[in-house]
Amino acid sequence: MSAGNLRLGINIDHVATVRNSRGGAVPDPVRAAKLAIAAGADGITAHLREDRRHMRDDDMRRLKAEIDKPLNMEMAATPEMVDIALSLAPHACCLVPEKREERTTEGGLNVLSAGPFLAEAVTRLGAAGIRVSLFVEPDPRVLDAAKALGAPVVELHTGAYCDATGAARAAEMERIRAAAAHAGAIGLECHAGHGLAFDTVGPVAALPQIRELNIGHFLIGEAIFTGLAAAIAEMRRLMDEARG
Ligand code: PXP
Repeated sequence: MSAGNLRLGINIDHVATVRNSRGGAVPDPVRAAKLAIAAGADGITAHLREDRRHMRDDDMRRLKAEIDKPLNMEMAATPEMVDIALSLAPHACCLVPEKREERTTEGGLNVLSAGPFLAEAVTRLGAAGIRVSLFVEPDPRVLDAAKALGAPVVELHTGAYCDATGAARAAEMERIRAAAAHAGAIGLECHAGHGLAFDTVGPVAALPQIRELNIGHFLIGEAIFTGLAAAIAEMRRLMDEARG
């Protein structure tokens, strides 16, 4: 059940982070995905990183087989990942930049000077019926480039907005607002995510062009205190409230 026309995708990567810290089978990210769906998630997002630091190939296969909501696979635009995505056939792929040394996805895709492989990845995944989104900075020039590559969807990186405070946060929010308006004007479906928490979700959820939010780390952390279902329900309530 989405908030108006705003979907909530729950990113479960960090359930796998906790599991991998002990090398065993628990906590199981697929169990978390099912719980998130029961708590109101419209879809599940999972990032299969090149170094498999959290989600693993078998997790992706189990998610695809066992959940009854759309699976959004985050991935780098590499030949290995495109082949995995084509054989997994998730509902959606979100193409993200990836550096081994980073702790999380630190910036948007460099769409402006992307090599030919990015365009090829967008084309091959799209031709297989997978909805392709590009994770980008909230910058109109980047959105124009994403459109030119043939991607139907962009996900605006909200990390800088979430990390900032005071006037700097307001300025970052204005970049997101302008980018969402531009995405709508040029016919791109617009999503947003990264770093969103209870205190930052409202202004982003209020933007009418935003159709999907993908939220993970904060909710998995909050689950320690309130449980995952309660954390997701509160996020949903705040999205509904902001959407009016
Ligand atoms: N969207 C994208 C494209 C991401 O890479 C991530 C992080 O994996 C998220 C959303 C979720 O970010 P967070 O875990 O900070 O909520």
